[in-house]
Amino acid sequence: METQRRVRVGIIGCGIGIFHLEGFEKEPRAEIVALAGLDTDRCVMLQQRFSVPRRYGDYKDLLADPDIEAVTIAVPNFLHEEVTLAALAAGKHVLVEKPLARNVAEGERMVTAARKSGKVFGVIFNRRSRHDVQLVKHEVARGALGRIYHGRAFWMRRSGIPGLGSWFTNKELAGGGPLIDLGIHVLDMALWIMGEPEPTAVSAATYAALGPKGRGMWQGARFKAAPDAAYEVEDFATAMIRFANGMTLTLDTSWAGYTSHTDEFGVSFMGDEGGAEIHVKDYADTGTLRFFSEIDGAPTVIEPRLQSIHNHGEVFRRFIDSILTGVPFSPTGEEGLERVRLIEAIYRSAAEGREIALAAQPIDRTGPRTELAARSAAENSREGTL
Ligand SMILES: NC(=O)c1ccc[n+]([C@@H]2O[C@H](COP(=O)([O-])OP(=O)(O)OC[C@H]3O[C@@H](n4cnc5c(N)ncnc54)[C@H](O)[C@@H]3O)[C@@H](O)[C@H]2O)c1
Repeated sequence: METQRRVRVGIIGCGIGIFHLEGFEKEPRAEIVALAGLDTDRCVMLQQRFSVPRRYGDYKDLLADPDIEAVTIAVPNFLHEEVTLAALAAGKHVLVEKPLARNVAEGERMVTAARKSGKVFGVIFNRRSRHDVQLVKHEVARGALGRIYHGRAFWMRRSGIPGLGSWFTNKELAGGGPLIDLGIHVLDMALWIMGEPEPTAVSAATYAALGPKGRGMWQGARFKAAPDAAYEVEDFATAMIRFANGMTLTLDTSWAGYTSHTDEFGVSFMGDEGGAEIHVKDYADTGTLRFFSEIDGAPTVIEPRLQSIHNHGEVFRRFIDSILTGVPFSPTGEEGLERVRLIEAIYRSAAEGREIALAAQPIDRTGPRTELAARSAAENSREGTL
């Protein structure tokens, strides 16, 4: 184990890359030595604010820096495969933002390359680290809800299209709209909490009601809009997923719609012994969780007192653990790929207007066997022969 040294990390992307820099701030075993991004103003601001020694424009220059051993990738979806493959080829450990990829074909190539590389590889589903999600996962795993038969996942924005004319609203560059952008977070939360049930069918519909009219744009300065640009993706998607164990899950996700939601997400579960509901308004991380049960026949609600956790920070703590100690990293690329597989089936169901049956997948969720894990296994077997 190499627990004493600091891992030298590079961050690619200066948008949500800011969460990466914040997330690493409390990780003494990592050192951010460089960042890369094409938008010089934002990158300079980040470099100064977080005192990052080196700054590059194109990601290829950062990857050519031999001092960097691990990278986190926060670039537009159409670059996830390209940058991941290049980073693995350059011998770096890699964490890539959700969604793993725009489609299954890209995701499969990434997972295959990661397995061959012997490097740590994973996808950032930071919301699994939320305290409310962790508690529901814990209660479901110990059987407190009994047999779960139905779940609901949603992420609904009233007015949150991230910049008309940006890569987000371009089908080719993003792979889709709110479903692949936001829906994938709550889909991941729900499937992970439910213990990865095997999906057998999806039935879905997508709509683009406000986006093409130039309505429902993100409120605030984060995203710039180009009023004349085409709107190419859905602004609302709804789906029902069936599972081999008889469970169902509904998923609703929007960037814009005339509803009471502001920017809200959550997951809820109904079991035959209890229920749980996470409902997050405007990114709150406390006051968001309720468990439902009964005491002597009286309907009972329990609201645990929650802690704020820096989601990305928790992901990076585990990433560094994995690099230094060989402990496997999760969510693996394989888990990221399963989510993309479902998203692709949902889009297909919506396009064809019918339920899509899903073939059972022989799934190995373990991720790459890293060089460190292989080395420790070899050392252990040598010790065993002495
Ligand atoms: N986990 C989360 O909560 C979360 C939140 C927001 C976004 N994301 C994901 O992060 C990714 C980026 O989203 P964003 O909102 O930051 O997008 P963005 O457009 O704001 O930023 C993208 C960054 O990538 C950089 N970039 C593009 N091409 C590059 C290249 N060739 N070399 C180096 N840098 C390059 C841009 O310069 C920019 O800094 C997306 O995949 C998105 O889904 C995740």
